[in-house]
Amino acid sequence: MAEVSVTKDAAPAADELVALRNVNKHFGALHVLQDIDLTIDRGEVVVVIGPSGSGKSTLCRAINRLETVESGTITIDGKPLPQEGKELARLRADVGMVFQSFNLFAHKTVLENVMLGQVKVRKAEKSAAEDKARKLLDRVGVGTQADKYPAQLSGGQQQRVAIARALAMDPKIMLFDEPTSALDPEMINEVLEVMQQLARDGMTMVVVTHEMGFARSAANRVVFMADGRIVEEATPDQFFSHPRSDRAKDFLSKILHH
Ligand SMILES: Nc1ncnc2c1ncn2[C@@H]1O[C@H](COP(=O)(O)OP(=O)(O)O)[C@@H](O)[C@H]1O
Ligand SMILES: [Mg+2]
Repeated sequence: MAEVSVTKDAAPAADELVALRNVNKHFGALHVLQDIDLTIDRGEVVVVIGPSGSGKSTLCRAINRLETVESGTITIDGKPLPQEGKELARLRADVGMVFQSFNLFAHKTVLENVMLGQVKVRKAEKSAAEDKARKLLDRVGVGTQADKYPAQLSGGQQQRVAIARALAMDPKIMLFDEPTSALDPEMINEVLEVMQQLARDGMTMVVVTHEMGFARSAANRVVFMADGRIVEEATPDQFFSHPRSDRAKDFLSKILHH
């Protein structure tokens, strides 16, 4: 299989935010990340697609160190990922993550969910944290739900709260790992629209998704993964109209014709 990832010079570009260089990881005998080289520039929206089990989630989790890697380097703003302690908590705030499952705190209100990290990690005053939480909840369209508990909200609303919670930390980058996969179909668009708006506002984003409409309209670049490798990187137009590898052609024929 031909690897067609873009190679860049060693000196970091001024607009480079996240850089993975020759990253490798195993789960036992499974080589889940193989020689991953990926650069994400400030303001860029990168959509990661590929078959189930290809390593997309592991890649995301490695970027905020929910998974460690065995070799290679991952840098954010030119600095290697911190190993532990307060700096690691700060990294997790700098790298907002939204998962398939909403993982909000069930025993806290929507408002408290969005305030918590601001107070604990960013050391914000409670009143300032509340103001910001309310603004962000309005921005994602759930301002009127602030005093409810997560279970009282629909899946689409909960996922928008999860986005607001990550945004409350003023992240440098947002990672989305199949954020709409667990949603009922009628709720997918409300979440994608919030993500579209974020992209338009200039947020740096890595989005693992099978929503090809989103990829086509919001992505600057599509990264196609298979078997732990980045097999192709291309603009959405190039990728969807002229995939180069057999692996990508095969994958696209399956997802576009079902
Ligand atoms: N904690 C883990 N322990 C062992 N194997 C894992 C673990 N997490 C993921 N895997 C395996 O690694 C492979 C890649 O997983 P993942 O990154 O979740 O892929 P994707 O998100 O592309 O579906 C899969 O084969 C999965 O079963
Ligand atoms: Mg996954």
